[in-house]
Amino acid sequence: MAEIRRVAVLGCGLMGSGIAEVVAKAGFETWVRELNVDLLKKGRTSIEKSLGRAVEKGKLSAEDRDATLGRIHTTTELQDLKDCDLIIEAVTEQLDLKNEMFGTLDKLCPPHTIFASNTSSLTIADMAAATSRPDRIVGLHFFNPVPVMKLVEVVRTIVTSDETFQRTFDFARNIGKDPIVAKDTSGFVVNRLLVPYMLDAIRCLEQGLASIEDIDKGMTLGTGYPMGPFVLCDFVGIDTLYRIAEIMFDEFRETRFAPPPLLKRMVSMGYFGRKTRKGFYDYTVEPPQPIRL
Ligand code: 3HC
Repeated sequence: MAEIRRVAVLGCGLMGSGIAEVVAKAGFETWVRELNVDLLKKGRTSIEKSLGRAVEKGKLSAEDRDATLGRIHTTTELQDLKDCDLIIEAVTEQLDLKNEMFGTLDKLCPPHTIFASNTSSLTIADMAAATSRPDRIVGLHFFNPVPVMKLVEVVRTIVTSDETFQRTFDFARNIGKDPIVAKDTSGFVVNRLLVPYMLDAIRCLEQGLASIEDIDKGMTLGTGYPMGPFVLCDFVGIDTLYRIAEIMFDEFRETRFAPPPLLKRMVSMGYFGRKTRKGFYDYTVEPPQPIRL
């Protein structure tokens, strides 16, 4: 089996920057590709901040931080990724966009290169079909915040080869994660269970069952979840949750995956959660206050 030494991450947003950080920290030469220099700078700054926090807390030495940053190379050109052994895409949830990139990389990369997707709800087979190497495509689904959450879902399609699966699964372990195996259906294991839960919380709110704060309090104090469902929705991103729900509803045609009207209204209003400082809570004030919706 060809060893994985060089890894590329496509996209350096919230998930991509977290993935690049953990991969480089584990000792792999890591290439990060973004559309332009500004996005690359933004992504690198967030990695620097995250590693800086780890140094302040005594979880990482200054030398290891510098060595990690030294292993992260940035580029805007797909051409620069041609020598990578594993390419992990973490771009927006648009199948056409992912397939266009994988299609280009398919022509540039050697046969042993594995393509992985961090998609949260699209199916891997729909990407595999766009390349000439469907047996070398897998899902590697990380969780936010990537440096903290131990889980990675390793997703195999009906045509993923045993070798590809094993190399990817071992890689997930080698970067310090504790992987599980999932079949290639929309949402895999975690989002299959988590997304209907978050959507149900919104439906409870729509029906006036209880307030945002009390529903959140109910689930944190009553079940020990680290965040209530509305804090979690804002954390994941209202726009992201809406997109995932649409994709999952399209896959299963079950009403429990259908985005509730309130979620759609919030997307129209630009209430995307923490990233826009307004979602179910208003983050422009300290402590954040629930919004009357
Ligand atoms: N980067 C790096 N480290 C971070 C971090 C970040 N963005 N955010 C928090 N941390 C670290 C802190 O430094 C701290 O480390 P320490 O214990 O060594 O001091 C630790 O995490 C705990 O952080 P805090 O004390 O600040 O806050 P909390 O105790 O409230 O924990 C949390 C924060 C880890 C985010 C916790 O609330 C949690 O686990 N929430 C649930 C997150 C979750 O469900 N994620 C999955 C979302 S679904 C998903 O990603 C799938 C996608 O497809 C939608």
